[in-house]
Amino acid sequence: MGSDSMEKYKGFLLEYLRTHLSRYFKYYQNVYSDTIRLDSDNFKLNYSIASANSKKIETPSIPEFSDVEVKKEKNINHVADVDSLQVLKKVVEECQLCELHKSRLNTVFGAGSDRSKLLIIGEAPGAEEDKIGLPFVGRSGKLLTKMLEAIDLSREDVFICNVLKCRPPNNRDPKSEEIKQCSMYLDKQLEILKPRYILALGRIAAKRILEKDIPMKDFRKEVHFYHNIPVMVTYHPSALLRNPKWKYEAWEDLKKLRSNLNK
Ligand code: URA
Repeated sequence: MGSDSMEKYKGFLLEYLRTHLSRYFKYYQNVYSDTIRLDSDNFKLNYSIASANSKKIETPSIPEFSDVEVKKEKNINHVADVDSLQVLKKVVEECQLCELHKSRLNTVFGAGSDRSKLLIIGEAPGAEEDKIGLPFVGRSGKLLTKMLEAIDLSREDVFICNVLKCRPPNNRDPKSEEIKQCSMYLDKQLEILKPRYILALGRIAAKRILEKDIPMKDFRKEVHFYHNIPVMVTYHPSALLRNPKWKYEAWEDLKKLRSNLNK
């Protein structure tokens, strides 16, 4: 390579790096500014988890389902015939299939746009979600909202639900029996919503929806399918709060998701 073309190549490379780094820093500041302060003069990231913990949790605005009157049907113990989210929500509210119904304050059915092309699946409700009955309203919910905003999506643009509809005590991992019992509700939600795209947050959601158990790096590597619906997998927001080193990879996943949704 001659010195002229070498210079051109260096210039191109620097410009490329500058554009990508500045886009990433902008994303980083917008999404993680509660927990991380970017000291750009010294090119340092300062973590301040304590202040994020003490910050009041804002509940994202989530549209309610439209006021369809739901007739309380007796003995709806099979979901096969259910064909609306409103009726399915009632069925879930009355569910006693596993032990979790004894300790729950509320079931957390899911929320968002019932005409969304993107369905997001988390793991299970936490303490805040259990109190309010809506998904992702605690710390990881706030992070999820910001991650979506970084790719120009609002909570109202998507539908968000979980593998489990009830909170496991002390936020322990869902048991396989609980996942099995709850599966028909998530499958039915997918059948009714017919999203064009699915985003699974974390390994538990990915394992459930794709019915395979592979390492997270392999889940993230490619687009998978659930009944012909493309599925992307990324890190769960609470994993991102615990492991800052995964944040860049999560940004890469979000950019891919955005471009796939645009297709
Ligand atoms: N984590 C989840 O997986 N789902 C929620 O709704 C909240 C936290």
